Amino acid sequence: MRLSGRVALVTGGAQGIGAAICRAYAKEGAAIAIADIRPADELEAEIRAAGGKAVQVRMDVTDPEQVASAFAEAERQLGPVDILVNNAAIGTPVALIEDVKVDEWERTIKINLVGTLICTQAAIRVMRPRGRGAIVNIASNVAKRGLPNRSAYVSSKWAVLGLTQTAALEAVDAGIRVNAVCPGPVATPHLDEVMLGHARAEGRSVEEVAEDWRTGAPMKRFIELDEVAAVATFLASDESSAMTGQALNVTGGLIMS
Ligand SMILES: NC(=O)c1ccc[n+]([C@@H]2O[C@H](COP(=O)([O-])OP(=O)(O)OC[C@H]3O[C@@H](n4cnc5c(N)ncnc54)[C@H](O)[C@@H]3O)[C@@H](O)[C@H]2O)c1
Repeated sequence: MRLSGRVALVTGGAQGIGAAICRAYAKEGAAIAIADIRPADELEAEIRAAGGKAVQVRMDVTDPEQVASAFAEAERQLGPVDILVNNAAIGTPVALIEDVKVDEWERTIKINLVGTLICTQAAIRVMRPRGRGAIVNIASNVAKRGLPNRSAYVSSKWAVLGLTQTAALEAVDAGIRVNAVCPGPVATPHLDEVMLGHARAEGRSVEEVAEDWRTGAPMKRFIELDEVAAVATFLASDESSAMTGQALNVTGGLIMS
């Protein structure tokens, strides 16, 4: 097993891509701290029933005190965190730049970018003295291109890649690797919400938006949860030991650089 003996804290782990990563890491032998604002009783029970270790550490990624408490609780129950997955994010607002509400824009930046910073700070504080660690940031295909009506989300994800590269440089001498995954559209509650937002903003049906997004990449399909989780597993494991500051595309060929 590729993550045997490691402790992984996954933000936004209660559903969607985060939950898929929790399942994949547990299968590879990691003990999982599911770090979310919402409960994850079923996921925790599922991992335990399969013989894995999982606990819930409720926290909001934007609150440094809650994040510090969650890392301390994960350490108390499982041991010091070896792997952080910065996955929690929101996709709204969906509006043109001239119409977007500044407070909604700031909320997205706060959760997606500042939340990633706060969790990365907590992780590096634990990992640096131990001389090892892996941080995996879940960015997006829109961390490498623009997308109309989504300036807040797009900007937050570009910035996550900047933070990824900077953290990689700062932490490399401490044996900490920091990488990112850039998924294309994956069928999750997050995607449903943002496609509905696009449909409203663009005067189209949700079905039309979904068809455009599904067929937009050369592979002409949505990305599967497990396909994102597999790359996140690779980046957390020693198989990627020579990689830091990278951003791997899981987009069915939509993004090629
Ligand atoms: N679904 C996609 O198509 C897609 C594509 C590219 C990138 N992504 C990225 O993948 C990641 C996961 O997306 P998803 O589709 O699984 O989303 P999702 O909305 O299904 O799940 C996000 C999780 O984050 C949690 N969360 C939200 N705000 C939080 C906060 N402040 N503190 C702690 N937890 C919080 C939610 O409770 C939820 O469990 C996000 O970073 C997203 O930007 C998703």
